[in-house]
Amino acid sequence: MKTTLAIGIAALFAATAGLAGAAEVHSLRGNLPLNAPAKEFGKKKQFIVNDKVARNWKLQPPIIPHKIDKERINLDENTCFRCHSPDTYKAEKAPMISKTHFKNPDKPVEKELIKRRYYCYQCHVPQVDAKPLVENTFKSAGK
Ligand code: HEC
Ligand code: HEC
Repeated sequence: MKTTLAIGIAALFAATAGLAGAAEVHSLRGNLPLNAPAKEFGKKKQFIVNDKVARNWKLQPPIIPHKIDKERINLDENTCFRCHSPDTYKAEKAPMISKTHFKNPDKPVEKELIKRRYYCYQCHVPQVDAKPLVENTFKSAGK
């Protein structure tokens, strides 16, 4: 009885291992037990351009092309406004926060930034200069 159970469990493990092998999926931290320390990843360099990064499809939230290490978005302040608000963008030679971010369907006359657009990182992110981790066949749909 005991032997049958042991064989059963071994077969189950073999089957799972076989599945993982077939898909060739490997954890980024290596095939390590959960409690084993993984190797540390080096800090990646941010991809920075002095211009806009081409969008891959119409209405894609544009990628942030500059450093954001010193920016803060919290309850008290949003430092992105320093350059991107309707009052500052001209002097800072920055693109203005999209007009769509001020159009509240519930309050069409309101001119303030819609609250659900306050946390810019929800949609706008910087990129790092790194190779894709897995093969990627994505093709840009253009603007
Ligand atoms: C010191 C001024 C400054 C601050 C602060 C700043 N930006 Fe910018 N941002 C710019 C300028 C200038 C550009 C135009 C591209 C360039 O010259 O880097 C730009 C470009 C962008 C773009 C690309 C727009 C497009 O159409 O491609 C996004 C998105 C953006 N910024 C988001 C942010 C967010 C989010 C924050 C806050 C975390 C922020 N920026 C803070 C000056 C600033
Ligand atoms: C819910 C997602 C979302 C949030 C949050 C958001 N954006 Fe956007 N943003 C977009 C999308 C999508 C576009 C492109 C389409 C458009 O203009 O609506 C865009 C466009 C922009 C542009 C380009 C405008 C242009 O004329 O080309 C700027 C600059 C920008 N956003 C800044 C910001 C800043 C700064 C914040 C935070 C205060 C922010 N956005 C929050 C989704 C978002």
